[in-house]
Amino acid sequence: MISIAKPLIGPEEKQAVLEVLDSGIIAQGPRVKAFEQEFAAMCGVDHAIATTSGTTALHTALLAHGIGIGDEVITSPFTFIASANSILYVGAKPVFVDIDPQTFNINPSLIEAAITSHTKAIMPVHLFGLSCDMDPIMSLADQYGLLVIEDACQSHGAKYRGKTVGSFGTGTFSLYPTKNITSAEGGMITTNDSQIAENCRVIRQHGMRRRYYHDELGFNFRMTDVHAAIGLAQLKKLDKFNQARIRNAHVLSSRLRGVTPPFIPEGCHHVFHQYTICITGGKRDALLDYLTDHEIGTGVYYPVPIHKQTYYQSQLGYNLSLPETPAAHC
Ligand SMILES: Cc1ncc(COP(=O)(O)O)c(C=O)c1O
Repeated sequence: MISIAKPLIGPEEKQAVLEVLDSGIIAQGPRVKAFEQEFAAMCGVDHAIATTSGTTALHTALLAHGIGIGDEVITSPFTFIASANSILYVGAKPVFVDIDPQTFNINPSLIEAAITSHTKAIMPVHLFGLSCDMDPIMSLADQYGLLVIEDACQSHGAKYRGKTVGSFGTGTFSLYPTKNITSAEGGMITTNDSQIAENCRVIRQHGMRRRYYHDELGFNFRMTDVHAAIGLAQLKKLDKFNQARIRNAHVLSSRLRGVTPPFIPEGCHHVFHQYTICITGGKRDALLDYLTDHEIGTGVYYPVPIHKQTYYQSQLGYNLSLPETPAAHC
C-alpha cells in the first residue's frame, strides 16, 4: 500500500533521540531551545515557541493575544476541526467565511462583511500547503485593527510573494507525523513580537514566570527534548522534502486527465502538504475505491465542513449557508 502520508524517519532522527536519552535531560531542555531557534530562522521571525501540538500552539497563541469571552475570530470552515475548536477553547466565537473554490482557502473578498464590533482577529488557514491570499487579509487587519493568527499547521515553508507563512502575524504549526516535517507530536508558534513570545512561554508553563509562582492560569504544553531532537533533524530536511513534494505534484498535474488539479496562484510557493484534486460528476467515491483497490492511499479532505459538524450545529446552533464550502468536497 502506498501510504498517503508516511513520516520519513532516517538514521539522523534515531541517533538524535538516542543522544537525548543518554543526556539525562529528556523533558523541555536545550534541544527544544535549539529547535525553536532554527524554526524561527526558517520562518524569518525573531521568536518561536514549541508546544505539544498544533492545537495547543493555536490555543496558546489565542490566549497570548488576550482573545477570550465575547470576542469573534474570523476563520475558514474548510479546515481540520482544531482551527475552530481552539477559538472555542478560549471562550471566543468562530465566525466562518466561505472559501475560494479554486484555492480552498478563505476568500478575502468576503471577510469585510463578517467584521463586527466584536471581531478581534482573523485566523487564515493555509490549507494543503498553500498560503492564503495574504495582501488583502493584512490590509483588512490593518484597516480594522485586527490581530492575525495564522494557522500554518499544514504549510511549513510555504511562501506568499517571497514571505514565509507564519511571519505575517502570529504563526502556528503542527508537527504531527502526517505533516511536511514531524516531531512525532508537537507544535510551534512563531512571532516577531517579544511580548507575545513571552506570554506564550508563560502560558505553556502553568502561568509561571518565577519558579512555583503562578500569576495567571497556564497549562502544561511543554515539548520534550526527545520530540525536539526529532523535529530538529526533520527541519534540516524540510527543503528537500518540500522539493520532492513539488516535483511529484508537477508530475501528477501534467499527467492526470479528467480531474481538477491543485491551483497555484501567482506569487505562491505551494508545498503540497496534500495533493488535492476535485472530481465532478459524482465519481469521487468510485475513484477512491479504485485507488484503494490498487493500494494507493487517498482521503477526503474534508467530508464535513466545520459549521456542519454535529457539535457546531446541535450544541452551538450554527446554521450557515456557505455555498462554496460544501462544494469543495465533491
Ligand atoms: C489546519 C490544521 N490546524 C490545526 C491542526 C492541529 O494540529 P495537531 O494535530 O498537531 O494538534 C491541524 C492538524 O492536522 C491542521 O491540519
